[in-house]
Amino acid sequence: MTYDGDYSFSPSSLYTHARKDQDFFTMKILLTGGAGYIGSHTIVELDRAGHEVVVVDNFVNSQPEALRRVEKIIGKKVKFYEADVRDREALSKVFEAEGSTGAMIDAVINFAGLKAVGESVAKPLEYYENNMNGVFVLVDVMRSHGCKNIIFSSSATVYGDPAMIPITEECPKGQCTNPYGWTKSMLEQVLMDVQKADPEWNVVLLRYFNPIGAHESGLIGENPNGIPNNLMPYITQTAIGMRKELGVFGDDYPTHDGTGVRDYIHVVDLACGHVCALKAISEKKGLAIYNLGTGHGYSVLDVVKAFEKVNGLKVPYSIKPRRPGDIATCYCDPAKAKSELGWEAKFGIEEMCRDSWRFQSNNPKGYEA
Ligand code: NAD
Ligand code: UD1
Repeated sequence: MTYDGDYSFSPSSLYTHARKDQDFFTMKILLTGGAGYIGSHTIVELDRAGHEVVVVDNFVNSQPEALRRVEKIIGKKVKFYEADVRDREALSKVFEAEGSTGAMIDAVINFAGLKAVGESVAKPLEYYENNMNGVFVLVDVMRSHGCKNIIFSSSATVYGDPAMIPITEECPKGQCTNPYGWTKSMLEQVLMDVQKADPEWNVVLLRYFNPIGAHESGLIGENPNGIPNNLMPYITQTAIGMRKELGVFGDDYPTHDGTGVRDYIHVVDLACGHVCALKAISEKKGLAIYNLGTGHGYSVLDVVKAFEKVNGLKVPYSIKPRRPGDIATCYCDPAKAKSELGWEAKFGIEEMCRDSWRFQSNNPKGYEA
């Protein structure tokens, strides 16, 4: 499974350790939260594109095993620091240690954050504190080390109940229905203000739609704690027998079969989107916002049927009431990322279902085994 798009960007003085022996320039990238679901896949793609990767994580929602699996895939060690991004001293030490190697950190991709929607409703202070403070400390430490390039993991959730379908980046932001969503929306604003105050910053806001799937090796994938909140892990856990049946949250939405429609995107495509987003940094775009989705909407029942067909399995389900805060339809127009970054999703719903199942069936207990 490889990205056949263009990973080569024009030379830029931004890179402190540009490798002139190649026909493209590489960067040293710090991934905060790099041991998580999206981060681990992004390490693989950044490495494949020739970039140098450094990871910081505190394992609040991941395991060291994920990084060991990544090492198996890429065939080399992952440079890793166990630290909390809210720990100013620890983070400064990472920048200093990396700078002392002669190649400073060129850019940061900030994956670190808590992401369970339901938990954020129950523990708003913990979510605001971790997600917001994490970015405040990170950006301050970056600034004091002369690193002013950041890619931020945002979410389609910032559009609220979207004012237009398909959703373009011009669509106004909406009302979030939970503290998790507000942290994304507010942090986008914080980063925009930082960039406005100091135009040397390059800020790329990536609004992810619904990432599912796993690396084709079956070694890394989504490894949720407890009862999954999201659709695909609930489907795979039902298929493997950990859950009795999938509850389908509502069949009376104004969609083709009454169930909620979303823009599912293969996590490897999403990871490639981060590599391509470095182009916006190399071109010193200042502020850039991109939707990362496929542009196709699939209903809950479409996903169940695709999963059953491609994996030859049955997923028992029953219709339940609507989940509070859910919207009927959410899919994007991904044209901007294609025209400006040369990125587009390659994988379809069947590949997403196949790879999600491969990870689940190879790892019935996640990374524990
Ligand atoms: P994840 O939970 O698997 O990964 C997040 C990682 O951040 C974990 O490894 C966790 O241990 C780490 N982390 C959290 N707080 C930290 C802190 N204070 N210091 C250091 N490390 C910390 O989540 P993911 O699915 O990989 O998501 C990555 C990012 O993308 C998150 O910010 C998430 O909100 C965002 N996002 C995810 C989705 C999705 O559906 N997965 C959708 C939209 C946006
Ligand atoms: C959810 C979050 C959103 C977050 C996104 C990605 C809510 C309200 N929103 O969005 O903030 O950015 O995940 O992490 O939680 N479904 C079922 N049964 C299930 C699970 C889900 O029918 O057991 C349905 C949902 O009603 C929805 C679709 O499947 O129609 C997708 O749900 P989910 O995976 O939770 O993603 P989002 O609702 O898009």
